Amino acid sequence: MAIQISSDGCTFTLQTEKSSYQMMADAHDVLLHLYYGRKIAAENLEERIFRSDVGFAGNPPEAGEDRTYSLDVLPQELPGSGVGDYREDMVRLYHADGSCAADFRFESYEVQEGAYRIPGLPAAYDTGEEKGETLVITMRETASAVKVKLYYGVFEKENVITRTVCIENQGKEAVILDKALSCNVDFLFGNWDLIYFEGRHVMERIPERVPVRHAKVEIGSIRGTSSHQYNPAMILCDPAATEDFGSCYGFCFAYSGNFVAGAQKDQIGLTRVQMGIHPVQFRYTLAAGEAFFAPQVLMSYSSEGFTGLTHQYHDLIREHICRGAYKHAKRPVLINNWEATYFDFDKEKIVKIAQQAHELGIEMLVLDDGWFGKRDSDNSGLGDWYTNEKKMDGTMGELGDEIHALGMKFGLWFEPEMINEDSDLYRAHPDWALRIPGREPNRGRDQLVLDMSRSEVREYLYERISSILNEAKIDYVKWDMNRSVCDLFGHELPPERMGELYHRFVLGVYELKERLLAHFPQLLLEGCSGGGGRFDAGMLYYAPQIWCSDNTDAINRLTIQYGTSFFYPAGTMGAHVSAVPNHQTGRVTPFTTRGHVALSGTFGYELDLNLVSAEEKQMVKEQLAEFDRYYELTHEGDYYRLAKPGEALMAWGFVAKDQSRAMVTVVSTDVEGNPLAQHVSVKGLAEGRNYRCSYNGIVHDGSVWNNCGLTLKKVLKEYESLLIEWTEV
Ligand code: DGJ
Repeated sequence: MAIQISSDGCTFTLQTEKSSYQMMADAHDVLLHLYYGRKIAAENLEERIFRSDVGFAGNPPEAGEDRTYSLDVLPQELPGSGVGDYREDMVRLYHADGSCAADFRFESYEVQEGAYRIPGLPAAYDTGEEKGETLVITMRETASAVKVKLYYGVFEKENVITRTVCIENQGKEAVILDKALSCNVDFLFGNWDLIYFEGRHVMERIPERVPVRHAKVEIGSIRGTSSHQYNPAMILCDPAATEDFGSCYGFCFAYSGNFVAGAQKDQIGLTRVQMGIHPVQFRYTLAAGEAFFAPQVLMSYSSEGFTGLTHQYHDLIREHICRGAYKHAKRPVLINNWEATYFDFDKEKIVKIAQQAHELGIEMLVLDDGWFGKRDSDNSGLGDWYTNEKKMDGTMGELGDEIHALGMKFGLWFEPEMINEDSDLYRAHPDWALRIPGREPNRGRDQLVLDMSRSEVREYLYERISSILNEAKIDYVKWDMNRSVCDLFGHELPPERMGELYHRFVLGVYELKERLLAHFPQLLLEGCSGGGGRFDAGMLYYAPQIWCSDNTDAINRLTIQYGTSFFYPAGTMGAHVSAVPNHQTGRVTPFTTRGHVALSGTFGYELDLNLVSAEEKQMVKEQLAEFDRYYELTHEGDYYRLAKPGEALMAWGFVAKDQSRAMVTVVSTDVEGNPLAQHVSVKGLAEGRNYRCSYNGIVHDGSVWNNCGLTLKKVLKEYESLLIEWTEV
């Protein structure tokens, strides 16, 4: 049983294969958090709580004269607001009389078979035989008719516990929801580090590790998207934890909008960890009878360091988050024209690019930005999703036929959520763009943002997109989003509901994607937001791959893909071979290295292959063969980080689930005169089984490779790379 409940119905222990999570409703019905960590027997752990009067820690009325009982120091599952816990609250309510108070007490529980779903939002789902289990705990607010349902989904094999909350107003008067986080975990003891992933456009998801002390460590986004600046995922870990050893806890938000996540030690040394929708610009009116569902947090614990945690997330995301025809199906190798042409193309150029790519074995042409409306630069045309038949010398249907006749799949770029003021759509519906009456709107890339919360906006987009998908039999859509969102004003919303718009925007985006996918079940969606500005588990529920970054420089990609790998599988990362000098950095790297780096992603090309040498064309064929050869490893295998960015020899690898094969990629990022030996770590091979290494033909037991690694016979030159395979013999 994944969910174990004590006979008095007060203690709840959630068990995965390797972790346990325990909470308990105490004598005053406060839901205490007692344990999260390595698997233990389901015994009551209330004695872990040390009680003393710490001073200036008030006591709830039920405590009577017991000054040691205080919400201000207790570890809780649902910390309320304004009633004596002075730490960060999780759910904040304003009542009809203007008071701000929320005091939650245990009321009842229910166990449900299978994973829970969240209306309109992504959630980890059951597959076939593998069913999660759900515990729903209902908490009552002591002085109002608000109920909060705490959802816990247990995925035993993946060692994942999912969390969300649903806040229901069962009263007769409206209540304002001012803050509604999705999870709170109070770690009673221990010193911790927090690892989060910061970045910027073209340089996303760089890990930063800081100690958690008494000042709050917090990341977040109020950009309307999960953002390039901070990814909505973080790791709380033992300060001594490494890739291979130590306790670590992952928190990963399955949501693509504003978020906050952080950790802070309190006065008694307890560490409170939280994640959820950012409370800035969030204010939800819960009218009588209304309910609000928060997005899902995916929590996972590993006692085996970051690598163990990564494997758990990769398995969960591949199996229980990604959906659709391409969940496990082989993704087509694509050629994208963006860096080859930017806006400067016509049909002839595109067909030539496709023909050459096809000759070399590439499977899909992706026509990027610029095929619609008046769109010869990024200043106009967004919203006018009608083929520019002059530029394309005919209809999209005709181009689609030509590409399909080559035997290639055909993909198309859209940026549905955006509108240029210089567009027919804007001229017809200026009020569809987000802007506050009486204020000049902020422009990002010279564009405004459509109000995706409005049904007629979504209806227009659905009609336009689906008609083009039908006409040209589109196989793939790259769904881009190229600015942050501000100037929020919903023309249809009453003033008191303006604080709902950021969230309603995300719900609108999800709804449109869901509708398109339901109608075009074979469609492959690739997410994108100026590269990796919306790379999150929420988006992966709709798009099983996301363009990882607008930075295609193979050396910068080592850092970006390294950071991305902590939570997200390689098969979700869009990665292409592009031209040199690289358009973002000016760096020149060998064609082979660019291929090796992109092979650890969804793989494709983003250059005009008519312009490369005969030797490079030959390399394309070899890379495609390598893509096939290693696909099972890169897309379904276990991922190992074998070096860190900044090391002169970067390395990472994949091991097949049955441990019969492995591959390791190494890239030299720096060289010195009179070079020292270059040594590569190897991990994950089975002890007691023999493996031959493709680099030197030597056979060793897995234990030897795992502990001794591989010394290169010849030192690699700057930016040179190797792809090495281990096969069981
Ligand atoms: C940003 C994307 O990340 C690029 O790949 C490209 O599609 C451009 N937008 C097109 O405007």
